[in-house]
Amino acid sequence: MMLSIAIIVPFLFLADLGAVQSLDLDISKFGGAPNADITQAFISAWNEACASTTAVKIVIPAGTYNMREVDVKGPCKAPIEIQVDGTIKAPANPDELKGADQWVKIGYTNFLTLSGKGVFDGQGAAAWKQNDCSTNKNCKMLCMNFGFNFLNNSIVRDITSKDSKNFHVNVLGCNNFTFDGFTVTAPATSLNTDGIHIGRSTDVKVLNTNIGTGDDCVSLGDGDKQITVQNVHCGPGHGISVGSLGKYTTESPVEGVLIKNCTLTETDNGVRIKTWPDAPGTITVTDMNFEDITMVNVRNPIIIDQEYCPWNQCSKKNPSKIKISKVSFKNIKGTSATPEGVLLICSSGVPCDGVELNNIDLTFNGAPAKANCSNVKPIITGTAPTCQALA
Ligand SMILES: *[C@@H]1O[C@H](CO)[C@@H](O)[C@H](O)[C@H]1NC(C)=O
Ligand SMILES: *[C@@H]1O[C@H](CO)[C@@H](O)[C@H](O)[C@H]1NC(C)=O
Ligand SMILES: *[C@@H]1O[C@H](CO)[C@@H](O)[C@H](O)[C@H]1NC(C)=O
Ligand SMILES: *[C@@H]1O[C@H](CO)[C@@H](O)[C@H](O)[C@H]1NC(C)=O
Repeated sequence: MMLSIAIIVPFLFLADLGAVQSLDLDISKFGGAPNADITQAFISAWNEACASTTAVKIVIPAGTYNMREVDVKGPCKAPIEIQVDGTIKAPANPDELKGADQWVKIGYTNFLTLSGKGVFDGQGAAAWKQNDCSTNKNCKMLCMNFGFNFLNNSIVRDITSKDSKNFHVNVLGCNNFTFDGFTVTAPATSLNTDGIHIGRSTDVKVLNTNIGTGDDCVSLGDGDKQITVQNVHCGPGHGISVGSLGKYTTESPVEGVLIKNCTLTETDNGVRIKTWPDAPGTITVTDMNFEDITMVNVRNPIIIDQEYCPWNQCSKKNPSKIKISKVSFKNIKGTSATPEGVLLICSSGVPCDGVELNNIDLTFNGAPAKANCSNVKPIITGTAPTCQALA
C-alpha cells in the first residue's frame, strides 16, 4: 500500500517521510461508544489490526469508556498503534475482573505503539482497602493495569496509568521497549502500586516520565539487561529499586542499569539495590550506574540493602548470596530525611566490589549526611561522606 502511494504521489510521500502510513480503525466501527463497555470492541479492533498486512492505528477518541480485562496477542503481521485519547475505566470491584492478573494485557508481537492523551483508570481504591499484605496474610494478588509481555521494538508514548489495583505496569520478556512521556498516578497511601516493574527484559528505556504512587516508582527484577531510566520524576513513592532479588533459584543475573537525571521528591528511598538474606538465589548484579540525581527530603537517598526483609518475613542469620559489583553513585545531591543519607549494607557472605561514591552532596538538617557501610569499601572520589565506624 505504501508503495502504491509512493508511486502515485511521490512528492507528497517524500514530504511526509518519517510518518508511517497507516489505516485508521476507529473503535466506533466495532460498536465502541463513550459511556459504554468497549471490551468486545477493543478485542475485535485488535484482531482486525493484527491480521492486517499494512500498519494499522486503532483510535479510541476523547470520552469515557468502561472496559473489563483484555488479553490480546500477536504475532501480528504489521505494526499496530493504539491511540487512546479517552479515559478508559476498569471495574472498581476486583471480583469483576475474574481473577485476571492484568487488566490490559498485550503480548507476543513487534512494533506496537500505545500513544495518546488518554488515561487508563484502574479504579483501585476499593481494592487497596481489602488488600493490606502487612496485616492481612490472605491478601490476594490483584489485577495490574498493564501487562506488556514478550513485545519487541515497542513504545508507550504519553498515556496515563491511574489508580491501578496493584502494580501499574509489568514489563516481561521485552526487547527494545520505550516509555516516553508516560505518567503514573496513584495516592501515596495506595498499596503495592509500583509504577513500572521490568523483568527479564533487554534494552528498556523509561524516559521523561512522571511517577507518583504508593510503592516503588520503577523496580527492576531479575534477568534485566541494558535498562535506562532517564529524566524521570518520582514522588510520592518508594523510589527507584533494583530488586528485590535472591528469593528464588530460578532468577537470572541483572546487568547494565543506568539511572540518570532523575528527581525523587519525598520518597521512602532514592536509588536502591535490595536482596533477601537467608534465601537461595545466587545471581550476580553488576554494572549499576546512578548519576545526576536530585533528592528532595528522601528518607534513604542511596541504599544498598542486602538484608532486605520486610515485615520480618525472614531471618537475617544467613547472609544474602547475591554478589553485587561495579556500582557507581555519581553527582547525587539534595536533602536526606535521615542522618545517614548513604547506607551500603552488603552481604557478609559475598561482600560488594567496586562500589564508587563520586560527588555525593546530601544534607540532613543542613549538615552533611553520613554514610553507614558494611562488607564494602567504597571508592571515594570528589566530595562524598566516608563510612562511619559501625557500633
Ligand atoms: C522478540 O525478540 C526475541 C529476541 O530476539 C525473539 O526471540 C522473539 O521471537 C521476538 N518476538 C517476536 C514476537 O517476534
Ligand atoms: C527499537 O524500536 C523502535 C520502535 O519500534 C524502532 O524505531 C528502532 O529501530 C528499534 N531499535 C532497534 C535497535 O531495533
Ligand atoms: C533532566 O530531566 C528534566 C525532566 O525531569 C528535563 O526537563 C531536563 O531537560 C533534563 N536535563 C537534561 C540535561 O537532559
Ligand atoms: C548507622 O550507624 C550508626 C553507628 O553505628 C548507628 O548508630 C545508626 O543507627 C546507623 N544508622 C542506620 C540507619 O542504620
